[in-house]
Amino acid sequence: MDKTVVVYYSLDGHTHFVASKIGERLECPVIRLRQHNEFSATNTFLKYFWAGKSSVFRDKPPLEDTDLDPDAYDTLVIATPVWAGNLSSPVRSFLSSHPLDGKRVFLVATNSGGSFVKCFATMRKLMPKASVGEEIGLVNITEASSPAQQQSLDAFCDTVIGRSQVVEGPNLS
Ligand SMILES: Cc1cc2nc3c(=O)[nH]c(=O)nc-3n(C[C@H](O)[C@H](O)[C@H](O)COP(=O)(O)O)c2cc1C
Repeated sequence: MDKTVVVYYSLDGHTHFVASKIGERLECPVIRLRQHNEFSATNTFLKYFWAGKSSVFRDKPPLEDTDLDPDAYDTLVIATPVWAGNLSSPVRSFLSSHPLDGKRVFLVATNSGGSFVKCFATMRKLMPKASVGEEIGLVNITEASSPAQQQSLDAFCDTVIGRSQVVEGPNLS
């Protein structure tokens, strides 16, 4: 398999759970994006209010530095929660500063039952020169999620692994 990394943001843990599962399955590094100023965890209403507002206004909040060098990878799996029908603003920040030209990219989103369409469409728009493959949307995913949902996640990982296999050239010796 070529070099793969999972990059994600998670406010409440669902996307963290999914990203960790994918990382285990692909046996690859998993990098968590964090905002420079995270939303307050002490007031849930305010946390959701500011998060929703930042998505609606297409904010690109500054992120904490990570060790991630996207150029060191061939394949990136990008995972985000859905906020107000769209991608989370920290993932918007990441994709706006790393358009991932020429990379193979797979998309993951978690939500609580709404649509994934706009979220995935925006993500694709933010990386016009990447080769964006399959996407998977997972609703209310937790350890206790249905076997069907776990199976979809396994199938998604199989696809990423399949697409990331290095094709050996003919042995001419
Ligand atoms: C600010 C905000 C906006 C949200 N908007 C939506 C939405 O439009 N549609 C939806 O189905 N779920 C929405 N949700 C629910 C989250 O997408 C869902 O709980 C997701 O799995 C959270 O991921 P996380 O736990 O990794 O943060 C929203 C949650 C927050 C905090």
